[in-house]
Formats: sequence, structure tokens, C-alpha cells
Amino acid sequence: MAKVLILYGTRFGSTEEIAQELGKVLNENEIDTQIINLETTKRKDLPNLDEFTGILLGSSIKIGKWTKNARKFLKKFAEKLKSKKDGLGVFVSCGDGGNPEKREQARTNYIKKKLDSNNINAVMIEAFGGKLDLTEDSKLGNMAKKMIMMAAAEDPNIKPNDPNDLRDWDRIREFGKQYCDLIKK
Ligand SMILES: Cc1cc2nc3c(=O)[nH]c(=O)nc-3n(C[C@H](O)[C@H](O)[C@H](O)COP(=O)(O)O)c2cc1C
Repeated sequence: MAKVLILYGTRFGSTEEIAQELGKVLNENEIDTQIINLETTKRKDLPNLDEFTGILLGSSIKIGKWTKNARKFLKKFAEKLKSKKDGLGVFVSCGDGGNPEKREQARTNYIKKKLDSNNINAVMIEAFGGKLDLTEDSKLGNMAKKMIMMAAAEDPNIKPNDPNDLRDWDRIREFGKQYCDLIKK
């Protein structure tokens, strides 16, 4: 049975829900899956990457950057990830991923460039829309909300006092399904 490790970095939780949804799709396709939150897991507690047929690595984006722990993981395990090139999938969750006009740029800026600079190849990459929660109950602080509002001035998809959940679950599931097909080959 193929075995896949999903690792993700998150700041406010929306990437975590994407990782969990991908895990569900993999399980439905009879792939044994382990999911790890890079924000709460110490390096010494990570499983041996050699045990996995494939790796799915995800991060949220803040001012163009992956989370610190996702960045650290990529750097530390670059050699191992290179050896997984036929089974490595990489995704980000971000505002630009939710905008079809900005998605290709998001793939390039937030994923391709990062992998290229570490000489890592991936079989699949994708920029998913994230969640830019501007409601009163939001986990975002005022500073983060202000930054989003400033960026949103140019983006009609993002509205004030709205959860702005730009995650397209069909697209996320489709990515998961295509990844399963590749891993099972
Ligand atoms: C302070 C801040 C800065 C952000 N910067 C960017 C950015 O540069 N590009 C982008 O596409 N999305 C940006 N976003 C949107 C986040 O990537 C999006 O909210 C994502 O879903 C967060 O994932 P998380 O909940 O897993 O942390 C930003 C969000 C915040 C709060």
C-alpha cells in the first residue's frame, strides 16, 4: 500500500483544513496517510521520510513567505526531498491562489522559485485560495486585518466583515485525486 506524509505550516489554521481534506481524499483512494503540523512538531519527532512513497508539503503565505517552520523543513530536508522527486507535491494556501488572474503568479512566486532555489523538483504544485477572515470573530489580529484590507483595495474578491473563505474544496479534492493517480502508478 502506498504511504504518503502530508506536512504543513499554518498561521491561522486554514492550511491545516486543506491538509486534512487532502488526507481524506488520499484515504478514500486507499493511500495510507500521516499528517503532521510543522508548527507543533519537533524535528526529532518527525518520521523517517524514507518510509513514505510520497510527500505532500504545504504552507500558508504571509507577505510572500512560507511559515518559518515550513521554510526550515524545506531547507533541512532538501536532499531527502530531491530524492522524492517522483512523489513530491507542494501547495500553498494564500489570497492570490483564490484569484484566477493571480494564481499562476502565486504558483511561480510562492512555489516554483522556492523549489528552484533549493534544486528541488515536484510532480505537482498548486496555489489554493486561503481564508482572509475579516469578521469580528476572526483569529487575525488588527494589524493582520489592516494589511489584508490594504491588499484588498485592489481585489474585489475580498470584502470587509466577511470570512473571505477563498478555498475551493472541489479544486483541492481534484488536486488530491490527481496526486493519488500519480503516486499509485
Ligand atoms: C498579514 C497577512 C499577510 C498576507 N500576505 C499574503 C501574501 O503576500 N500573498 C497572498 O497571496 N496571501 C497573503 N495572505 C493571505 C494568507 O495567505 C491566507 O489568509 C492564508 O489562508 C493563511 O493561511 P493559514 O490560515 O493557514 O495561516 C496574507 C494574510 C495575512 C493575514
